[in-house]
Amino acid sequence: MSKPKFYVTTPIYYVNDVPHIGHAYTTIAADVLARFKRLSGSEVFFLTGTDEHGQKVEQAAASRGEPPQALADRMSDHFKALWRKLDISNDYFIRTTDERHKRAAQALFQTLYEKGDIYKGEYEDWYCTPCETFWTESQFEHAKHCPSCGRPTEKLKEESYFFRLSKYQKPLLDYITANPDFILPESRRNEVLKFIKGGLRDLSVTRTSFKWGVPVPVDDKHIIYVWLDALTNYLTAIGYPDDTAHFNRLWPADVHLLAKDILRFHAVYWPAFLMSAGFALPKQIVAHGWWTVEGRKMSKSLGNVVDPHQIIDQYGVDALRYFLLREVSFGNDGDFSHTAFIGRLNADLANDLGNLVSRSLAMLGKYFKGVVPEANEDQGVTGELELLVEQSIGRIIALYDEAYFSRILEEIWVVVAAANKYIEQMAPWALNKEPAKIKQLAAVMYNITEVIRIIALLIWPFMPNTAAKIWRQLGIKEALESSNFYEITMWGGLLSGTVTIKGPPLFPRVE
Ligand code: MSP
Repeated sequence: MSKPKFYVTTPIYYVNDVPHIGHAYTTIAADVLARFKRLSGSEVFFLTGTDEHGQKVEQAAASRGEPPQALADRMSDHFKALWRKLDISNDYFIRTTDERHKRAAQALFQTLYEKGDIYKGEYEDWYCTPCETFWTESQFEHAKHCPSCGRPTEKLKEESYFFRLSKYQKPLLDYITANPDFILPESRRNEVLKFIKGGLRDLSVTRTSFKWGVPVPVDDKHIIYVWLDALTNYLTAIGYPDDTAHFNRLWPADVHLLAKDILRFHAVYWPAFLMSAGFALPKQIVAHGWWTVEGRKMSKSLGNVVDPHQIIDQYGVDALRYFLLREVSFGNDGDFSHTAFIGRLNADLANDLGNLVSRSLAMLGKYFKGVVPEANEDQGVTGELELLVEQSIGRIIALYDEAYFSRILEEIWVVVAAANKYIEQMAPWALNKEPAKIKQLAAVMYNITEVIRIIALLIWPFMPNTAAKIWRQLGIKEALESSNFYEITMWGGLLSGTVTIKGPPLFPRVE
C-alpha cells in the first residue's frame, strides 16, 4: 500500500534582511508537523524558501549599494544556515530567482491570461512597499498610511495588468463557507469572510516602475507583481509546469502555514488564482499570531529584533524550539521576554522533564544496575498510568489535525507530570528497602522507564535533539525516526533487559 502524502509549506521569506524569531517560529511549526507526519508514516514534502523579487528587495539592495541578486544570494544563505542550525528538516528550499521558478511564474501568468482573467488597464492608487500591497483611499484608517503595517504609502499611477479578482468573490465565499476547516483558526476565517463580503476589486498583477522581477510573458515592459510571483513557488517546488507526475502526486498542498499578516494573500488571492488556472485549492491554510518582544513590536529601529543565533548559542536549539511553540496559544499573538524564556526553561525543561529522566535513570542504576526489569502487570501498579498515557496520545493525535502546537505540548506535559507524580506515589526508594517488594519495585521501575520512552517519542517532533539524547540514555537500538508513531507509542514497547546509560542533565538550570 502506498503511503499517504503530506505537503506542508512555510511562507517564502523576503531577503531584504536576516531572519529573526518570527521567521523561525513559522518554520519550526512547519517542521514539527513534517516530523510528526513522517513518524506517522506519511510521505512528507516540506517546503520553505526565499522570496527574492520586488521593490522592497530592490530598495534594500540599493541602500546597501549592491545588486539585488547579490543581496538575495547572501540573505538566502542566512536563512538556509539558520534552518540547518535549528534542525529544520525541509525537503526543498526554493528561491524565486531560480530559473525554473521564473518559468513557472510566467507559465501561471500565461494560463490566467489565456483564461481571460488578466486584462490591461491603468493603476492609480496607493502602494505600501514594506508590505508589497496595493491600497485604495477608502481602506485607509489614517490618511495614506498602510492599514496593515502603519507606514506611509506612496501614490502609484502606472499602466498595469489586472487579474479579475471580482469574478471570484462568489466562488470564494461559497468555497470557504462550504469548507469550515479550510482556514484556521476560526477567528481568522471570519476575518477573511468579512474581507471578501466587503467586495473584491480586480487586482493589479504587474508593475512597470522598477525592474527587479519576472518579466510578463505577454508584455516585456512589465514585471509580474511580487505576490503572484511568490505564491507560484508552492507549485514550482513540486514540478510545475514540467514534472506532471511529481506535481500530481503532491498537489494540493495539505497545509500552508503563515502568520496573520499575509493571510489575505493566501486565503483570497491565491485560491482565486488557482481557481482561474483550474487547480485544486490547498486543503488548509493555518494562520498564527504575531510575536512582539518584551511587549513591543519587533523592529530594527527599536533595536529589539531577537536574533535566534544568540538564543541558540546560549541555551540550545531545543530550548528555543520548545519555548516558541509552548509560550503562545497557537493562533494568538505572543510576547518574547527573557524572563518568560528562562522561566519555562527552568520549570518545564530542567525541572519537569530533565529531572524526571535523570532521577529515574539514577534509581534504575541503583536498584537494577541500569538494566530495564520485567514488565509485570500483575503487580497492579500499571493500569492507571497506562490508561492516562493512552488517552493523552489520543488527544495529541487529534490536536495535530488542528495544528494546535501549544496544546500538544501541554498534553505531553500532562504525561510528564503524571510520571513525576507516579514516582512520588510509588516511592521506589521505600520499596527498595523491603525485600518482599522487589517484584513491585521492578514493575514500578519498568513503568517509569516506559513512560520516559513514550515521552521521548512525543517530544521528538518538537525537540529532536533532546529526544535523541533520551533515546540513547535508554539504550534503545532502533533509530527513533525510522519507527512508526502508532506502533511505538503503544504501551509495553520497551524491552526488559535493555541496558540504560545515565547521561548528563538534559537542561542545566539557568540562574
Ligand atoms: N515574502 C512574503 C511571503 C510570501 S509567501 C508566498 C513575506 N515574507 S516575510 O519575510 O515578511 O515573512 C512573513 C512571515 O514571516 C509571516 O507570515 C510569519 O510567518 C513570519 N513572521 C515574520 N515576523 C513575524 C513575527 N513578528 N511574528 C510571527 N511571525 C512572523 O511576507
